[in-house]
Amino acid sequence: MKKYAAILSAVVFIAVAAVAAYAAHPEQTTIIPFESILKHMPWAAGGDVRYHITVHMPYEKWAKWPGKGEKYAGKEPHGAFLTTYVNEVALDSINKSQGMSDSSIIVKENYESNKQLAAITVMYKVKGYNPDGNDWFWAKYDPQFNILAEGKVEACIKCHASVKDNDYIFTGKVTGK
Ligand code: HEC
Repeated sequence: MKKYAAILSAVVFIAVAAVAAYAAHPEQTTIIPFESILKHMPWAAGGDVRYHITVHMPYEKWAKWPGKGEKYAGKEPHGAFLTTYVNEVALDSINKSQGMSDSSIIVKENYESNKQLAAITVMYKVKGYNPDGNDWFWAKYDPQFNILAEGKVEACIKCHASVKDNDYIFTGKVTGK
């Protein structure tokens, strides 16, 4: 009997944990396409993207944006100096100039004029996530990788919408338009 009680309490525990996880993050239930799971891509959520870019596929080992080196001069609001990394899908998309493909990730380190790291900003394309905004997921982290903003962040979208024809990208031409 003891064994059954143990199994039952384990089942109850898992069920309660699942409900609690859903209650905490209901928005995460709809937004991961099956193909993305096959490609081991993260959920469109700040914590999962952080895990992906720091532990699973550390972004510092990725290619930099083609033609951009380390700590190149940037503009407001991001910072005086920027280093921008792209994953393989994003690099391929930039080279093809047909818009950014699903699963593209861009990670940009933003430095102050004294070259201190101030923030990390990320754009991650997730098929079906936000069709009105070309399916970009947006995130901003502090230098310790605490989440400062995530999701369909209005401020990010509003400003980047000025380059909507270029798939919301400022740094280089990524579409044929
Ligand atoms: C007021 C305008 C503005 C706002 C707000 C803004 N950005 Fe940007 N963003 C830019 C500009 C301009 C660049 C090009 C880099 C540069 O020169 O600073 C850029 C570049 C980027 C890039 C590199 C890819 C690209 O588009 O060139 C990422 C990633 C990025 N921003 C993420 C974000 C995130 C995440 C937010 C919101 C937390 C955000 N941005 C808010 C203007 C903005």
